Amino acid sequence: MTNLILPHGSNELNTLYIEDEMARSSMLSASAEMRSLEINSAAAANAVMMAAGYFNPLTGYMNKEEALKVSREMLTLNDIFWPVPIVNITTDANSLDYTHGEEIALKDPNVEGNPVIAIQRIDNVEKLSDDDIEIIVKNVFGTTDVNHPGVKNFKDQGKYIISGPIEVLNYSYFPHDFPNTFATAPDIRKMLTKAGWSKTIAFQTRNPMHRAHEELCKMAYERLEADGVLIHMLLGKLKEGDIPGDVRDAAIRKMVELYFEENTAIISGFGFDMMYAGPREALLHAVFRQNAGCTHLIVGRDHAGVGDYYEPFEAQEIFDLDIVRDSLKIEIFKADHTAYSKKLDKVVMMRDAEDHSKDDFVLLSGTKVREMLAAGQELPPEFARKEVAKILMTYYQERS
Ligand code: ADX
Repeated sequence: MTNLILPHGSNELNTLYIEDEMARSSMLSASAEMRSLEINSAAAANAVMMAAGYFNPLTGYMNKEEALKVSREMLTLNDIFWPVPIVNITTDANSLDYTHGEEIALKDPNVEGNPVIAIQRIDNVEKLSDDDIEIIVKNVFGTTDVNHPGVKNFKDQGKYIISGPIEVLNYSYFPHDFPNTFATAPDIRKMLTKAGWSKTIAFQTRNPMHRAHEELCKMAYERLEADGVLIHMLLGKLKEGDIPGDVRDAAIRKMVELYFEENTAIISGFGFDMMYAGPREALLHAVFRQNAGCTHLIVGRDHAGVGDYYEPFEAQEIFDLDIVRDSLKIEIFKADHTAYSKKLDKVVMMRDAEDHSKDDFVLLSGTKVREMLAAGQELPPEFARKEVAKILMTYYQERS
């Protein structure tokens, strides 16, 4: 692993999952005697990301001061670059009773029976004021509008912020639901080492990959003369209307099998809920791909965006800030809007096709694609590979 990029913020990757089986089962027994709290999905996903080394060098949930500092300055209390608060917030006012140093059992809201996912040692429980919440939300999401799904999720979490280090006992539903796809940061570092890749481009996605996505990966691979592309998909919760993880996984696997040269792509996924925080989330995406050993991250149009909350290339521009340049080793591949050109008969980046007008491209919005699939209409082959379109169509037809 020596030739891979260093993790973010430390030389060694810090994973919070308890590897030793004996230790894990004795902690699990001990947790039965502890006070317990059913945490929300975002907090559980944060635990999974810390367990898996993706959120290196964090060791637990942030307190109020740190959440505010991260949201305003993108720095932890130790002055390590970090773009979004990693928190355990609850609606449960009884949490104010927890004492400093007490260990509590965190219960997983996403697995039947709510098993214990982690043990947290309490540093502090503080109440966030409405102002604190507005400050955090405004800085992280760029808006306080509750119609924004990430803002709504954040505000719905409650007001009590429980800080302190955690030890994680399992990876929630991810290994069960995505046995071939879910991987930790050390797993990915091992895969890259095995493949002999030192220059790896990560492709973040929450969608099945259409032809524009496919070409983005191929263009980045060629232009950067990389060793390979890590197609790294989000496996956690999404907003209503997004394609579920298993369907996306199947569609991506089919596309890579049929349309990528051998040994140029690794397909994998991570257990995190989508925030839709645009630029800030793009930074987080970069941090955790660096932790997974990648040297580059593709950032295209409206990366991690939703609706019209962000400018199309705002998520690229944020990487030009000094604090980001000085803090991250991973670099981004800035992709322009990419689409099929009817004139050239291939997928291109719009900036490379200066003589084109909008009508020269096959452009379909996400909403339009969903409408077509719901109505049983075939997606045009210029937009989606037919084998991918078929998987999506089957999903939509079975659903209706
Ligand atoms: S995301 O929320 O995970 O960013 P999505 O899976 O749609 O959503 O996008 C994955 C990556 O591809 C992001 O970097 C995004 O900016 C980029 N992307 C998607 N579609 C296009 C496109 N047509 N042109 C340029 N970049 C795109």
